[in-house]
Amino acid sequence: MQVLHLSVECFPVAKVGGLADVVGSLPKYQRHLGIDAAVVMPWYDTPFVRENEWDKVAEGSFYQGSEPLNYIVFKERVDKLGFPLYLIKIPGKLDRPEVYCYADEAEQWIAFQHAFLRWIKYDRTAPDIIHCHDHHVGLIPFLIRYANEFNSLKDIKTVFTVHNGQYQGWMGWNKSIILPAFDTWRWGLLDWDGMINPLATAIKCCDAYTTVSEGYLEELYVEANGLQHLFRDESAKSRGIVNGIDVSYWNPATDPLIPATYSLPTAAQGKQENKKKLCAQYGLSEQLPLLSFIGRFALEKGADCLSKIIRNLLSQNMAEITIFILGSGDPQIEDELADLKAEFPKHMGLFVGYNEALAHQVYAASDMLLMPSRVEPCGLNQLYALKYGTIPIVRGIGGLQDTVKDVSEDGGYGFVFAQLGGNDAEEAVERALEQYKTEKDWEVLRSRAMSLDFSWDKSAQKYKDLYDQLIN
Ligand code: GLC
Repeated sequence: MQVLHLSVECFPVAKVGGLADVVGSLPKYQRHLGIDAAVVMPWYDTPFVRENEWDKVAEGSFYQGSEPLNYIVFKERVDKLGFPLYLIKIPGKLDRPEVYCYADEAEQWIAFQHAFLRWIKYDRTAPDIIHCHDHHVGLIPFLIRYANEFNSLKDIKTVFTVHNGQYQGWMGWNKSIILPAFDTWRWGLLDWDGMINPLATAIKCCDAYTTVSEGYLEELYVEANGLQHLFRDESAKSRGIVNGIDVSYWNPATDPLIPATYSLPTAAQGKQENKKKLCAQYGLSEQLPLLSFIGRFALEKGADCLSKIIRNLLSQNMAEITIFILGSGDPQIEDELADLKAEFPKHMGLFVGYNEALAHQVYAASDMLLMPSRVEPCGLNQLYALKYGTIPIVRGIGGLQDTVKDVSEDGGYGFVFAQLGGNDAEEAVERALEQYKTEKDWEVLRSRAMSLDFSWDKSAQKYKDLYDQLIN
């Protein structure tokens, strides 16, 4: 069975969020199950692209409206990621350093999907499944059925995975002229509330859609930024499949990015060594419990509440906790956190930016990880944290609810709180600090956490079952 994953992010080629981690690891685990899985993504001007070797496998040209575009399909020579990786280069549209934030984003993603379909139609054998990730590639299930040029591909099954239903790729109807020519009687499939909505189109036209946790699927039925009815109407073809993590990369016993490697029996000492290094670097005390936050400074992640939570914690427990924040995003949140750091220099470390190696070091060094998310379709950071023996303190929603069990439950290994307003987060941290005081209790938690299996094995099998069902 051949599966092509289509995405605009894939780690380590180009990463903005968790989407990249999933697309960069799931295909490898699917290949272990005998699926011939590969990834197709845009060619960006990133270090990974410059530093690796590529073979040209196809090229062609097409018109986007009245603009002529050329495309070249490259394949990475040695399958370095554990699966075949294809990049589609479109000079002038998709050969830039960043993934997002360009004004012509609609043109970019439409061009990518158009070039992909031409390549599939004219230059290679069709796959059994096209697996599309997020709205950027949400028009594919529509185009293979209703774009005149591509409806010979209409029997290919399509799976669409929702990593984030907040973003839907809205564009005005004036963009319809840059789509490959389609059966205009079908315009309603592109429309949602007077806009072209690629996420809605994907949900209407795909053969099956999945969300990255079961809890998130239930949430989308209730609130999906305007699409909740649609998610419910199409629920017969839905499935929640929780993400896994790549345990060959996220493994404290072998991680080359952390100063001191460790495994379960050596965790106490190993984590302390990592903490010592990180704290020394940032002028923090290594004697105190270390609580971290890693992620985008966005409303979705609850990052706007961080300063309030940190201020409350530090003013009440000044002597008892150290905080480390790694991330970037909303400039106002960046400023607030910088001010807070200036106020509590010995108790708070801050790195503004994206830094993969530092993220590994922070997981290894921290005792607890805070995730006060408003929306969390799956969340990978809590899974990385668990693997590194770092206890998650999370808001009980979406994938966080599905993957973190509160200590009050049998076999619990984390701290779950309900609301973002009020002091729920602070109280959860205080519960954790209480437990931390008794070394034995904390060790129990840590060993439960590190013994969990969140590798891709189970979920990769669930995707396989879904593909099998669609093909037969
Ligand atoms: C998005 C979601 C996150 C999820 C990731 C991978 O970034 O916000 O919760 O883990 O996609 O599916």
